[in-house]
Amino acid sequence: MRWLLLCHALCFSLLKASAHTVELNDMFGHIQSPGYPDSYPSDSEVTWNITVPEGFRIKLYFMHFDLESSYLCEYDYVKVETEDQVLVTFCGRETTDTEQTPGQEPVLSPGSFMSITFRSDFSNEERFTGFDAHYMAVDVDECTEREDEELSCDHYCHNYIGGFYCSCRFGYLLHTDNRTCRVECSDNIFTQRTGVITSPDFPNPYPKSSECFYKIELEEGFMVSLQFEDIFDIEDHPEVSCPYDYIKIKVGPKMLGPFCGEKAPEPINTQNHNVQILFHSDNSGENRGWRISYRATGNECPQLQPPVHGKIEPLQSQYFFKDQVLISCDTGYKVQKDNAEMDTFQIECLKDGLWSSNIPTCKRTENDLERELESEQVTE
Ligand SMILES: *[C@@H]1O[C@H](CO)[C@@H](O)[C@H](O)[C@H]1NC(C)=O
Ligand SMILES: *[C@@H]1O[C@H](CO)[C@@H](O)[C@H](O)[C@H]1NC(C)=O
Repeated sequence: MRWLLLCHALCFSLLKASAHTVELNDMFGHIQSPGYPDSYPSDSEVTWNITVPEGFRIKLYFMHFDLESSYLCEYDYVKVETEDQVLVTFCGRETTDTEQTPGQEPVLSPGSFMSITFRSDFSNEERFTGFDAHYMAVDVDECTEREDEELSCDHYCHNYIGGFYCSCRFGYLLHTDNRTCRVECSDNIFTQRTGVITSPDFPNPYPKSSECFYKIELEEGFMVSLQFEDIFDIEDHPEVSCPYDYIKIKVGPKMLGPFCGEKAPEPINTQNHNVQILFHSDNSGENRGWRISYRATGNECPQLQPPVHGKIEPLQSQYFFKDQVLISCDTGYKVQKDNAEMDTFQIECLKDGLWSSNIPTCKRTENDLERELESEQVTE
């Protein structure tokens, strides 16, 4: 009797000491309960940790399953888990309301790791033969099975055995995240006095992961005003100010924005001849972007009066910076400027709102004067 008790204590610790982990790294394999196909020993615990390469999942299927049944599998069981999640626990000979056996259904790991633990408690009332299972690595079709939108390809997805890669539509470049498609949009210079600038692909959703840069560059003396038109739609956040995508406007050292959301900024009168527009998009979201129409105006110059015996071309009610007019005289008269005679004379509206010169006068030409004098003498 004493020996029996001793054995119980000793054998128990011996068996517990036999609880061990088997590391498996093959693409397929075979696992069985201890002693299979004989009945498994009491008080044993074995864990098989299977790791296959990234891009594969593990499919486990049971050819044979025969374990002691207990309420919620608290005595003997086969537990299948990942690093942080129990996938399923099996026990018994057939599935009941509270216990599950594998049946014909394979178990599929969500990732490339699966841990299988077999445990038996200290006693078995009958003889149970345990289990016999196979596993194999199966390819993950990342293109169709990926649930997380944030990780899927932006444009095209290509699956291959053990992995996948993304590609982009014509005109786009794959971002270094290997997933989103960006555009090259940092080299835009606008030098016309009016123009329209939009986010790439406007009014279709703008590309992800892009840094766009637009410069409006006019001569000093012009002042650029900007007006947002049409749709304005930039990904925003209810609490944080433009954390994802935004447009910023830089005028001299001053930065306006960031702007985002669905309400366009008010028209902006920059009072400057150089304006820079920065547009940033992150790696997610489908928003339609923005459209800016800009106009550059200069200072207005004073009204002009044509000289006596002369005219101004073109004759307008208003003149602005950079406008030029040509002064010419009637027949028999010449433009007189700084003691020189000429046929025409040009003046220009300057950036500070002044004309480059006064309006010259028209003087009767010497020759004409003589001829007129002669003819007067003749008629006398
Ligand atoms: C086997 O996997 C289990 C579950 O993730 C883990 O707790 C255990 O540390 C692993 N054993 C070894 C030896 O890696
Ligand atoms: C993208 O792919 C390249 C080449 O296949 C690889 O070297 C790089 O580490 C990948 N980058 C990321 C962020 O996955």
